[in-house]
Amino acid sequence: MNILVTGGMGYIGSHTCVELLQAGHTPIILDNLYNSNLAVLDNIAEITGKTPVFVQGDIRCRETLDGLFAQHKIDAVIHFAALKAVAESVQKPLEYYDCNVTGTLVLLQAMQAAGCNTLVFSSSATVYGSENQVPFCEDMPVGTATNPYGSTKIMMERILQDMAVANPDWKISLLRYFNPVGAHPSGKLGEDPNGIPNNLMPIICRVAQGKMEELLITGNDYDTPDGTGVRDYIHVVDLALGHLKALDKVVQTPGCSIHNLGTGKGLSVLELVQAFEKASGITLPRRFAPRRPGDIAESYANVDRAARELGWQAKHSSAEEICQDVWRFLTKSNKR
Ligand code: NAD
Ligand code: WQD
Repeated sequence: MNILVTGGMGYIGSHTCVELLQAGHTPIILDNLYNSNLAVLDNIAEITGKTPVFVQGDIRCRETLDGLFAQHKIDAVIHFAALKAVAESVQKPLEYYDCNVTGTLVLLQAMQAAGCNTLVFSSSATVYGSENQVPFCEDMPVGTATNPYGSTKIMMERILQDMAVANPDWKISLLRYFNPVGAHPSGKLGEDPNGIPNNLMPIICRVAQGKMEELLITGNDYDTPDGTGVRDYIHVVDLALGHLKALDKVVQTPGCSIHNLGTGKGLSVLELVQAFEKASGITLPRRFAPRRPGDIAESYANVDRAARELGWQAKHSSAEEICQDVWRFLTKSNKR
């Protein structure tokens, strides 16, 4: 299939393009390189032996999208492109609503005009908010977002659900990712955000590289086994493979489906830090700090629906494999 991959140069998008190419699909990447760089294209080519079509452009540009749909017979869209930094979204709400919500609306309008009605969408566990109890299940009511980033994901899910009601021939898959981590086992792709990282694993990497002085463990007084926050860390290759399964399913399923992509198990900050120290041989300078505003104690998925309906489950997401792959990426790609 010819797949338009918005945000395909980014962390999750690039790993998904590798799996798409290896499965015989043809990804066509649209990315404005806001949070990625051109080297990713060479790295995808080195891993797969194929260079995907890449167009540098913005999902908010209707002309660019119309051109892409006119030039390629696009069978489906995987829509990763978004801004994703939670704290930044509080400072810059308009940029987040514009990129994420306006961008999705323009994309949907272009798809509709081109007669392309199959979409896999990057949603997030953030939509469960703080009201629901773990493990989070797809049939729970969506929670209240504590930041504009989370609000954009809730809004986009709603827009896509409304689209499916209004257009019964549309096929939409909402994938709620838990905490994506890890890197490609080749060491050629991984998470390399532009600017100051927000998430735990990229921060761990910066501390290991000596680019940040220490890791602040934000909260050790949660009601969890060791007092630190518990999350469902999912290897990015597992996540990428989940997209292929979702794609296979969505092409034959009109309507809007929702699937959690996680492991179903929680890991604490300390457990992840210890696994990283073991994989790298580095002792990370760290200390406990107050809780981060808006954080919840625990987040992990009920993954039964993805197993049952998509035939997908995480296979590479042990703390050991995740940390070994991240460490290989840091060392092999000279990111240290
Ligand atoms: P990323 O920042 O690495 O990738 C996003 C890509 O989209 C980047 O290459 C960026 O340059 C591009 N982009 C951003 N705005 C664009 C625009 N207007 N037009 C074209 N390209 C644009 O992020 P990621 O971690 O790969 O996340 C991918 C998707 O998954 C996002 O929608 C994100 O919200 C969602 N998600 C991520 C996580 C996570 O923790 N990484 C968790 C849940 C959901
Ligand atoms: C993980 C754990 C922190 C930084 C976020 C978004 C969510 C989704 C995934 C996109 C928590 C602790 C963190 C630090 C720490 N993204 N931590 N020191 O908050 O679970 O989820 O990314 O959709 O929407 O909210 O991920 O990696 O930021 O934090 O101790 O310097 O690490 O308290 O327990 P989070 P995270």
